[in-house]
Amino acid sequence: MLKHENTSSAGSSEGSFKGVVDGSAEGSLILRVKDVSVHYGMVQALRGVSFDLPKGKIVTLVGANGAGKTTMLRAISGLVRVSGGSIEHRGHIISNRQPHEIVRRRICQSPEGRGIFLNLSVEENLDLGAWAAPDKLAYKINLERGFEMFPRLKERRRQNAGTLSGGEQQMLAIARALMGQPEVLLLDEPSLGLAPQIIEKIFEIVEQINRDGMTILLVEQNALQALGIAHHGVVLETGRVVLQGPSRELLASDEVRKAYLGE
Ligand SMILES: Nc1ncnc2c1ncn2[C@@H]1O[C@H](COP(=O)(O)OP(=O)(O)O)[C@@H](O)[C@H]1O
Ligand SMILES: [Mg+2]
Repeated sequence: MLKHENTSSAGSSEGSFKGVVDGSAEGSLILRVKDVSVHYGMVQALRGVSFDLPKGKIVTLVGANGAGKTTMLRAISGLVRVSGGSIEHRGHIISNRQPHEIVRRRICQSPEGRGIFLNLSVEENLDLGAWAAPDKLAYKINLERGFEMFPRLKERRRQNAGTLSGGEQQMLAIARALMGQPEVLLLDEPSLGLAPQIIEKIFEIVEQINRDGMTILLVEQNALQALGIAHHGVVLETGRVVLQGPSRELLASDEVRKAYLGE
């Protein structure tokens, strides 16, 4: 069922995927974002945002530039303070914890703009994603798995990351996040600045990672394509959730596509 959320209810926790959560086995809710507000000084970037991330699903957070998508991911990662509400991971409140504590909970982010170190080699960039991985054996396994998923990165493992194409750098950013052996992968605009063909490839990879069992929170301006691979969509406008529901239902409504999805 689609949920339109007007401003008067934005402060409640009504916005979660009740159908999914209630109908699923205990413990299958990985993240719960409840009434979250974030301020940057006087500027309020998030206003009572609520949604759930069920295990094994892709939830996409879509909205225009400035809607608050990156702020939401940074709040989950512990990079910005939450001024109201809470973020729960498997029932434990994790809001306003240190970023390293969040990574140790195996919640790993591929940041907006990729955050690749251009003067380091591909492999050195991957090493940086592995500091929280449990041990050396896990490191080797993760690295091999990453190279299997991204053969281009294996071919270029000793090259400086700065010599990679935009699409390859995005793959590297995703592969680096996977080196932390995440339970939850947070992806901030993986399609940004890439050519349509490459975007398609990136989305295929995200879908494949999910099919292999990963729970994913995907932030995108590219709403239609993101909803094409996600199970659920959450539409943000100027810091508020205006609509959320199963992707299929969001995509099926002409009205929704016109009003919210930039069609
Ligand atoms: N470090 C910051 N200081 C002040 N305002 C910020 C900062 N980062 C983001 N904002 C503001 O918060 C709002 C949400 O930004 P952001 O989360 O980056 O949106 P999105 O990722 O959806 O484009 C915008 O109005 C933006 O200008
Ligand atoms: Mg952003």
